[in-house]
Amino acid sequence: MSDRLPAQEHVLEDGASIRMRPLVPEDARELERGFDQLSPQTRYRRFLHAFDHLKPAHLEYLSHIDGKRHLAWAAADNATDGGIAIARSIQEKDSADTSEYAITVVDAWQGRGVGKLITHALHKDAWANGVRFWRATMFADNIAVQAILLTCCDEVSRHTEEGGAIEILYRLRPPAE
Ligand SMILES: CC(C)(COP(=O)(O)OP(=O)(O)OC[C@H]1O[C@@H](n2cnc3c(N)ncnc32)[C@H](O)[C@@H]1OP(=O)(O)O)[C@@H](O)C(=O)NCCC(=O)NCCS
Repeated sequence: MSDRLPAQEHVLEDGASIRMRPLVPEDARELERGFDQLSPQTRYRRFLHAFDHLKPAHLEYLSHIDGKRHLAWAAADNATDGGIAIARSIQEKDSADTSEYAITVVDAWQGRGVGKLITHALHKDAWANGVRFWRATMFADNIAVQAILLTCCDEVSRHTEEGGAIEILYRLRPPAE
C-alpha cells in the first residue's frame, strides 16, 4: 500500500467532515458494502454496463492495491465512518507512465466536492509514482468527471467508443506543492 502520503481531513462547503486515505486490502468488505449502496445509474456510469454485484475475483482485484502500479484512495464520512468514494489509477500493461483512472462517489455524496478532492489526492500519489498520463472512459455526457480531471490535467486526445462512451487521454500537470 501507499504509505508516502498521509491521510487527509477535509470539511466540505456544506459543512460535512470527511477523511481520505490510501485504500488497503483490509477495506475489501467496506468496498463491497459501498458498492451495494450504489444506485444502478451510478454503477452503470462507473462501469459502463449494468452491474448487480461484485464477483469475488473482481473484489479481490479492486481491493489489492500495491501502492505503486495500482493506486487507490478512499474517502469516508467522519460522522459515520462509512465509505463514500474511491478513485483509482491502474498502470496500463506495457506502459510505465500511463494509467487508467476511475472514480465512484456514492449517490448521496455526489455534487458536494468529494470527487474533486479525492482526485487531487490520487493525482499527487500518481505523480509521485511516475504516472504522467491518465486514460479515462466515461459516457460522453459525464461533464462532472471531465470537469474534475481538467482541474489537474490537460486533455491530449479523445475518441468515441461504442454505446455513447468516450475515452480521453489526459496529461497530468505537476501537483502544486
Ligand atoms: C462523476 C463523479 C465522480 C463526480 O464526483 P462528484 O463528487 O459528484 O463531483 P464534484 O462535486 O467534485 O464536482 C466536480 C465538478 O463537476 C461539476 N459537476 C458535478 N456534477 C455535475 C453535473 N451533473 N453536471 C455538470 N457539472 C457537474 C461540479 O460543479 C464541479 O465543478 P466546479 O468545481 O467547477 O463547480 C460522481 O458523480 C460519480 O461517482 N458518478 C458515478 C460514477 C461515474 O460517473 N464515474 C466516472 C467514470 S470514470
